[in-house]
Amino acid sequence: MLNLNTLVSLLDLIKMLKPLLINKKIKPFNEKINIDGDKSLSIRWALLASQAKGKSRGYQMLMSEDVLNTLKCLKKLGTKVSIKSNYCEISGKGLNSFNYKKNLTLDAGNSGTLGRLILGLLVHSKKKIKLTGDASLSKRDFSRITVPLKKFGAKFHYIKKNKLPLFITGSEFAKPINYFENRGSAQCKTSIMLAALNTNGETFIKAKKSRNHTELLFKYLKIPIKIKKNKKYDFIKVKGKKEIKSFNYIIPADISSSAFFIVLTALSKKSNLLIKNVNINPSRVGIIKILKKMNVKILIRNKRDYKGEKVADIYVESSNNLKAINCPPELNSSAIDEFLIIFLVAARAKGTSFFRDLSELNQKESPRLIWGSKILKMMGIKNRLTNESIKIYGNPKLEIKNFIRIKNYLKDHRIFMMSTIAALTFGGKWKIDNPESIKTSFPSFLKIIKKLSNK
Ligand code: S3P
Repeated sequence: MLNLNTLVSLLDLIKMLKPLLINKKIKPFNEKINIDGDKSLSIRWALLASQAKGKSRGYQMLMSEDVLNTLKCLKKLGTKVSIKSNYCEISGKGLNSFNYKKNLTLDAGNSGTLGRLILGLLVHSKKKIKLTGDASLSKRDFSRITVPLKKFGAKFHYIKKNKLPLFITGSEFAKPINYFENRGSAQCKTSIMLAALNTNGETFIKAKKSRNHTELLFKYLKIPIKIKKNKKYDFIKVKGKKEIKSFNYIIPADISSSAFFIVLTALSKKSNLLIKNVNINPSRVGIIKILKKMNVKILIRNKRDYKGEKVADIYVESSNNLKAINCPPELNSSAIDEFLIIFLVAARAKGTSFFRDLSELNQKESPRLIWGSKILKMMGIKNRLTNESIKIYGNPKLEIKNFIRIKNYLKDHRIFMMSTIAALTFGGKWKIDNPESIKTSFPSFLKIIKKLSNK
């Protein structure tokens, strides 16, 4: 029998499977909001808690599909996971303690972070494991992670070159490695760091700058880690086989999700917004630096430290006189998930903005550089695209009048949210496919839009 809750969630689901229709701009708002927990931190907390000894609790975890898939994979690997109303509890049995049946299949769903990070924890698993993912993840490159993990001693087998599904067989004699990570991928860096946890000896990584949540968590957990930095690279040494104590963690809000509401406010009339408790780790705040250079009115308030991370409230106001930007590529890695939404600010800005060295954007859940350009063109914003750059000719007076249909073939959550923000701030009639894609990273996105729209 269906109970009321199931019925309500079924109705929600049916609603979400229909395209979203928007035919008016959002009215002025003045609000205080909370945003869902950080995805990178939620996944990292769960994976590390599975390697710790004892019960760990994660509070304010992001309960999105990427994180739920992480928890499902851990359960299949024999880790006890319980989800309570206000926390998630993981009972870890220590390093290399996974216990699972033969012919196990792990499904990473849509999540590159989960798919790539979990492989790091499996370089010792004696029994072969199959890793699969959805249509989007199955188009993404896995050689970037299997190349370094092979050096640890793990064996990989692909059906289709460098793509999921893949099979991993770990090695009992996994050994530490030296590796140069030159893409600036935190997923690669983290996967190697997780693999290093289980080896005797010291792994050395020279890594192009990328988000450093894993390093901060390792430090907090007293895992032996040494880091030296220069302008472009971090030099990281991790010593394995140190027992990890269980730990509780309160996940701050995700700046990548907050970014949609920062831009919604900046591009709306007579509005302001306070977003509470956002993770403002310096390796993630490229969006704030870029938007400030473009004249967006943003203030960081109430800044504080939390277990090595930085957390603050972000205040933003409607912003006129937006300026184009020649975006310094050094900011790319700290804003990598935010470029689509930044492109909307460039569309409203006076002058020509230029974003370069962004080939990695086409390696995401969908080819986002290409999609960004297509959507801007549909909006009537002239832009020039190459494999790694985009020039956007801003138009501060743009008012969209026509009908825009976004058919998003890889169901990319950030394409859906960017399109929604464009519809609410530039006008026009929009029909946007795949509202359900928000469940990947930001399940309450539409609820917050509704809250701001009702004012
Ligand atoms: C992530 C790293 C980034 C980012 C992704 C999350 C992480 O990917 O795009 O959404 O949590 O480590 P890359 O490491 O591939 O750049």
